Amino acid sequence: MSTPVKTKTFDPSAYGPWAVVVGGSEGVGAEIAFRLADAGVSSVLVARRPEPLAETAEAVRARGVECRVVSVDLTSEGATEEIWAACEGLDLGLVILNAGANTYGAEFVESDMARVQSVIDLNITSPLQLIRRFGPALKARGRGGIVVMGSMAGYLGHADMSIYSAAKAFSRVFVEGLWLEMREHGVDVVEVILGVTRTPAMIRAGLDMDLPGMTVSEPGEVAEEVLASIGNGPVHVCGGEGNQKGVEFSSGVNRGRVVAGAHKRMKALRGED
Ligand SMILES: NC(=O)c1ccc[n+]([C@@H]2O[C@H](COP(=O)([O-])OP(=O)(O)OC[C@H]3O[C@@H](n4cnc5c(N)ncnc54)[C@H](OP(=O)(O)O)[C@@H]3O)[C@@H](O)[C@H]2O)c1
Repeated sequence: MSTPVKTKTFDPSAYGPWAVVVGGSEGVGAEIAFRLADAGVSSVLVARRPEPLAETAEAVRARGVECRVVSVDLTSEGATEEIWAACEGLDLGLVILNAGANTYGAEFVESDMARVQSVIDLNITSPLQLIRRFGPALKARGRGGIVVMGSMAGYLGHADMSIYSAAKAFSRVFVEGLWLEMREHGVDVVEVILGVTRTPAMIRAGLDMDLPGMTVSEPGEVAEEVLASIGNGPVHVCGGEGNQKGVEFSSGVNRGRVVAGAHKRMKALRGED
C-alpha cells in the first residue's frame, strides 16, 4: 500500500518554540524567519555578513519573539559546532538549511579543485554535518522538522555548474532517504525545490530573470510555501504548475534531448545567446 499524500499546513506548535535558519539573513531565509516570528517561533539566524544578519534579527525581534545570530562561513572549519553551541539549551524543533549557491562557475576539466571543493562543502558537507548534529535531538524529541533547500538545477546536468547541479541532485536523493528514516520518529523532512527566485543573491549575480515564459518567484511567496510544505515531504516543488512541469520535463528518460534543451535555456538566462 502506498503512503497517503500528506497535506499538512504549517502548525508552529508541531515544531517550535525555536528554529535555526541557516542562511537566514536575507531573501528567502529572512522571509522564513519573519513568518516563523509571526507564528510565535523564535529563531537562531546563521549567515556570513554581520550587518544584514543584525538587521534581520532586529526585524524578527520587533515581531515579538527572540532571535540569536551566528556570523560564520559554513565552509569554514568548526562552523557546525559554532552553530550547535549557539543553540545550546533551546527547545529547538525546526532546522531550516537554506544557505546554498553555485559559488564557482567553470568548465570542470579546467577547474580549480579547491573552489570545486568549496561548492561541495557549502551544498553537501555543511547540510550533512548540521543534520548529523541536530538530527539526534529531534529524533529524541519525537517531533520536529528538517527543511533542505533544493533546486530545479538538481534534476539535470548543467555546463559550467556541473558540481552545483550534482550537489542538489545528491541533496534531494539524500533527503528522500532521511525522510523515510525520520518519519519513524515523528520528524518531518522535506527537500523544497526552488525555481528562479528573485533573491538579493540572484540580483547581485546579474541574471536576466525576465525572460518570456519563465516562472520567477519572490522570496516572500517561496517562504510561505516552504513553511506550508514541511509536512509534505520528501520533495516539494515550489512555484506552481510552471516549475512542476519543468521538473517533469527535466526528469525525462531521453537525457540528451532534456539536457541539451535545458542548456539552451540556461544560456539565454545568462545572457549568452
Ligand atoms: N534564488 C534562486 O533563484 C534559487 C534557485 C534554486 C535554488 N536556490 C537555492 O535556494 C537557497 C537560497 O538561495 P539564495 O541564495 O538565492 O537565497 P537567500 O535566502 O536570499 O540567501 C542565502 C542566505 O545564505 C547565506 N549564505 C550564503 N553562503 C553562505 C555561507 N558560505 N556561509 C553562511 N551563510 C551563507 C546568505 O548570507 P551571507 O551571504 O551573508 O552569508 C543568506 O543569508 C539556496 O540553497 C539555493 O541553492 C535558489
